Amino acid sequence: MGKRNEDMVNYNIDYNENEGMVYSSQKMKAIVSMVENISKTDATVLLMGETGVGKEVIAKLIHRKSHRRDKRFVVINCAAIPENLIESELFGHEKGAFTGASYRKIGKFEQAQGGTVFLDEIGELPLKMQVKFLRVLQERQFERIGSLDSIDLDVRVIVATNKDLLEELEKGNFREDLYYRVNVIKIEIPPLRERKEDIIALSNVFLREFANYYNKSLKKIDLETMHILLNHQWKGNVRELKNVIERSVILAKKNEQILTINHLPIEVKIDNSFPEMRERTKISLKEYEKLLILYTLYDVKGNKSRAAEILGIRRQTLYNKMREYGIDI
Ligand SMILES: Nc1ncnc2c1ncn2[C@@H]1O[C@H](COP(=O)(O)OP(=O)(O)OP(=O)(O)O)[C@@H](O)[C@H]1O
Ligand SMILES: [Mg+2]
Repeated sequence: MGKRNEDMVNYNIDYNENEGMVYSSQKMKAIVSMVENISKTDATVLLMGETGVGKEVIAKLIHRKSHRRDKRFVVINCAAIPENLIESELFGHEKGAFTGASYRKIGKFEQAQGGTVFLDEIGELPLKMQVKFLRVLQERQFERIGSLDSIDLDVRVIVATNKDLLEELEKGNFREDLYYRVNVIKIEIPPLRERKEDIIALSNVFLREFANYYNKSLKKIDLETMHILLNHQWKGNVRELKNVIERSVILAKKNEQILTINHLPIEVKIDNSFPEMRERTKISLKEYEKLLILYTLYDVKGNKSRAAEILGIRRQTLYNKMREYGIDI
């Protein structure tokens, strides 16, 4: 290894980039390999996960990997459409179908013919529409409002929710038959705080992208700052992280090369020490070991001999574990 000074110490980790999706954790690797398999089928997929975890990113990945990739990927946000407009949004209408229908409208399902429809926040779909949607899933046919002609539908359906659908089902807000119909393949995307490696990978990629976009010289995130990013709870998940990095990049001066704690928005600069994190986050022994190694290396600014000494293991053992966990500092 060449000459090393503090500036050269980087916080790096192997990561994958797949159709714009960045990931490094075992959890996301498992999800991507599941995506590779289900992309080959036409099965309906249910994506579950907190806000901002990347449900739409995964939905797009499924589409891009499927034979439908050259056709459209159409997003329907069920929470964003007023209840009285949702049917015509989904299925379209004929001219004169109702007062105000002055032209024929092609609905989202029809727009997606041959491609993929992504219904976001499916838990918000009104019960009346749930019945119609169920029929579409079962019969693969629909009618524009005001028309008697059924149109055959050839679309892959992906739905997403950040609500617990079983709970909604018990409350009577979600139909049981539809629940079983959409729950053919379920993918649960874990929150960002439960896949810390992705925080490192995503932060670095977002830094590169925003530095480029805003014409800044930023090249890396210093270790102290990464420590804070790793400990943050990320209630808004990847969306929040992306936003934090963007705001930090905007704050940096044009010629600054290193993103430091000074650039971070105040709400992120909260002090959560390592033991406290253990209280809050349920992680496995292996993940804990990986994090402990990461933190120790970070504390000693990448000095392997010093880290091995603190951890009470031989240098070679440390190297082996770093290789095993994909740590490259
Ligand atoms: N693995 C990832 N790699 C790169 N960008 C990601 C990744 N996951 C999420 N993002 C980015 O984070 C933001 C939120 O992702 P997305 O919209 O897919 O989340 P979501 O789960 O659909 O959120 P919501 O529940 O609010 O609809 C987007 O800007 C997306 O590009
Ligand atoms: Mg979404």
